[in-house]
Amino acid sequence: MSFKATKEIIEDGDIVILYLNPNNMYSLEVKAKICNKRGQIIDNVFNTTYGALKVISLIGQKYGSKVELTRGWAYVLQPTPELWTLMLPHRTQIIYSPDISLIIHLMELRPGSIVVETGTGSGSLSHSLIRAIRPSGHLYTFDFHEQRISIASAEFRKHGLSDFVTLKKNDVCLEGFGEELNHKVDSVFLDLPHPWLAIDHAIVVLKKTGGKLCFFSPCIEQVQRTYAKLIRKGFIELHTYECLQKEINVQNRSLPILDLECLKYKVGIVFNIFFENKITVMMET
Ligand SMILES: C[S@@+](CC[C@H](N)C(=O)[O-])C[C@H]1O[C@@H](n2cnc3c(N)ncnc32)[C@H](O)[C@@H]1O
Repeated sequence: MSFKATKEIIEDGDIVILYLNPNNMYSLEVKAKICNKRGQIIDNVFNTTYGALKVISLIGQKYGSKVELTRGWAYVLQPTPELWTLMLPHRTQIIYSPDISLIIHLMELRPGSIVVETGTGSGSLSHSLIRAIRPSGHLYTFDFHEQRISIASAEFRKHGLSDFVTLKKNDVCLEGFGEELNHKVDSVFLDLPHPWLAIDHAIVVLKKTGGKLCFFSPCIEQVQRTYAKLIRKGFIELHTYECLQKEINVQNRSLPILDLECLKYKVGIVFNIFFENKITVMMET
């Protein structure tokens, strides 16, 4: 199970990433046979724009190696939470890597941390939380949507992460997080439409020595209501961040060599045009 630990060689049952280019990546389970839409068991052949791959042929190949497709090639990579966030099946809106990195930093997560997350949604954030806190930490993730919980649970099992995560179906605003977590949790993360309704329950699970509460809200009105509640409940050191990722694009450009004689001539022409335009404008007014 390659989500769990770095490994060198692909084995039967691994989840791998087939990387064609940055906009074309797929996650595959390495197994010989699959069930097609008609319920028939057939050879596991994956088709891409660069041709087909017999998935079982990946067994024994090195992670990071280039593999042949029938009309081209691709790289086969180990899955990471970042790659999973880019290609997971969306059941909900998800949190992306720039925000995730800030969330993990602000909640001061490390191996051994006990974390509560709600809602689980599509499990995008959960994968990164698990990587930050394992092997000795634990994630308790809650959602009131039964199907989302069961799909996320199956994904964690397939990814070899079940030992580090417990999923629960709860409406956390009404029922909270369960007595067994009382004062055992280092950090609580809320990605809900009404985070202020979960604050009382979060206080009960945070360790008495103190803890971090982080919430993710797209609207400033949600932030205002949650702030008001947090202040009433005695939280201190409140901060709000917007995380904007800006990539620096480096390009090579060829510039013509400066020819001063020619430039003088061109500047003259530019001025002429400028004055002509100006005169025209004045005549019109
Ligand atoms: C935007 S999604 C979370 C996405 C997740 N952070 C991710 O990165 O994949 C919000 C989730 O919260 C769940 N939810 C909303 N209100 C809830 C409540 N009161 N209790 C439990 N879950 C709730 C929804 O079912 C939904 O799956």
